[in-house]
Formats: sequence, structure tokens, C-alpha cells
Amino acid sequence: MTEQTYAPELATSLKADFAEIVARYPQPRSALLPMLHLVQSVDGYVSARGIAACAEALGITRAEVSAVATFYSQYKRHPNGEYNVGVCTNALCAVMGGDQIFETLSDHLGVGHDETTADGRITLEQLECNAACDYAPVVMVNWEFFDNQTPTSATQLVDEIAAGRPVHPTRGATTVGTFKEISRVLAGFEDGRADEGPGAGEASLLGLRIARANGWTSPHEGHEADRHAPLAEAAGAAPVGDTGSSAAHQVPTSGESDPGAARRAVSEEDK
Ligand code: FES
Repeated sequence: MTEQTYAPELATSLKADFAEIVARYPQPRSALLPMLHLVQSVDGYVSARGIAACAEALGITRAEVSAVATFYSQYKRHPNGEYNVGVCTNALCAVMGGDQIFETLSDHLGVGHDETTADGRITLEQLECNAACDYAPVVMVNWEFFDNQTPTSATQLVDEIAAGRPVHPTRGATTVGTFKEISRVLAGFEDGRADEGPGAGEASLLGLRIARANGWTSPHEGHEADRHAPLAEAAGAAPVGDTGSSAAHQVPTSGESDPGAARRAVSEEDK
């Protein structure tokens, strides 16, 4: 367990970081969420002393800070493992094998939901949807994606973590930082690794290609199309504006599109 208060040097650096976070917002109390991540980056969870420090920095009560900290499942109220292994057991991942993966890992590690292995290395957790349903079932290690998992691959993953070997997410960062390291990033202090690894996987880009093949764009196509141009081009689509027909700019209504033709077009493109 942590001490009741921070040592003077740590208290000073925490205060400076709190001030930097608060300065990002018009209202100081809006800074509470990243401040709680910062507390986790120091203590490995939202400690009593962290709650007191947040309350003092923002001029609010500890009860108010606790009310926020207990609302969100990303904030841990007891020491978390070095690696948080979250298995999505929300609807789609569950039917695609997420429940089976969670049960397998729970048996393998000897811990249940929100419990930590005796060596403090791994906390196992059931997660809600992580907006990665196209890669179901998904496992996240400290919020990095491991797509299309199976009980076997997930077991290998936790064995690598338990052995102290680096693990490599499917997308994003090339390796996974510790829970404390990632918590500091979530507090808004960049680690310089934001551009590592692929940002989007093939399943997501396929949808984009189908949209492009049908000429589907968003209703605010001028501004939005420009904003998404780099992603579209990364997916191998024609440059924005090169649709060949003004009709192609219309979002089709029921019966006006031919997804089958689009898929065939994508399939041709992939050959
Ligand atoms: S249901 Fe698992 S990522 Fe959406």
C-alpha cells in the first residue's frame, strides 16, 4: 500500500504536472479525469493520497473526487498489476469467443475479474466494447489492441507478459508500456510514440474501400472529404474528388446501391 502522503519531492513534481493539466481547460475541475490518470501513473491506482492531492489542487472535496474516480472503470481503487489484460466480453466479442477467452485466462492465471496475480504482474479484467468489433474477439493490454484472439493466442500472450518478454500489439504502438507509463500518456504527457505502428487494420480499411467504390461520402463532403483524404489514399482509394461522376457524391438511399458490386470492385482491386 502507498503512504498516506507524498514525499516532498514527489509532491512538488505532482503539483507542477497538475498545474500543467489544469492550464489546458477553461474550468479547473474539467482537469480531474487526466489528473486521476496522473495519480495512477505514480501510485498504480487512484490512492487515497492521490484523491486528497486532486481535491486540494482543484479546491473541491475528496468526496467529489471519489465520486468521479468510482464512476469510471479505467480508474482502479486498489493497486493494479503492471499489465492490465482486458478481455472484451461485450456482445459481439462474447459470441465470437470472448467469454471463452476470459474463462481460459482466468483459469490459467488463477484470478478473476479485476484481480491481480500474486507477483503483481497481471490484472485480468472483463472489458466493455472497445470499438474494435471488426477484430472480435479483442484483448487489450494496457489499452493496446490485440486483435482476433483465441484462447490459445491469449494464453500465449499472458505467458509472454508473465515471463517479462515484450509483447507486440496488432495496431498502434510496437510494444506495450507498463500500466504506470500508459497512465501518464492518458494524463496527456506524450511519450513520443504516438505514430508507431499501423493506425488502422485491414478490416476497417475494407469498409472505406467499399464506400469509395460506391462513391459514398459524408453529408459534409467538402470539409470532411479533405479531412479523410490521407486515410482514403492509405487504403488505396482514388484521390478525393476523383470520383468520375457528380452522382457519386450522393449518399445512396435504400435500393440505390449495390454492395455486391462494391465488394466485387474491392476484390478486383485486391488482385
Ligand atoms: S464488442 Fe468487443 S470490441 Fe466491440
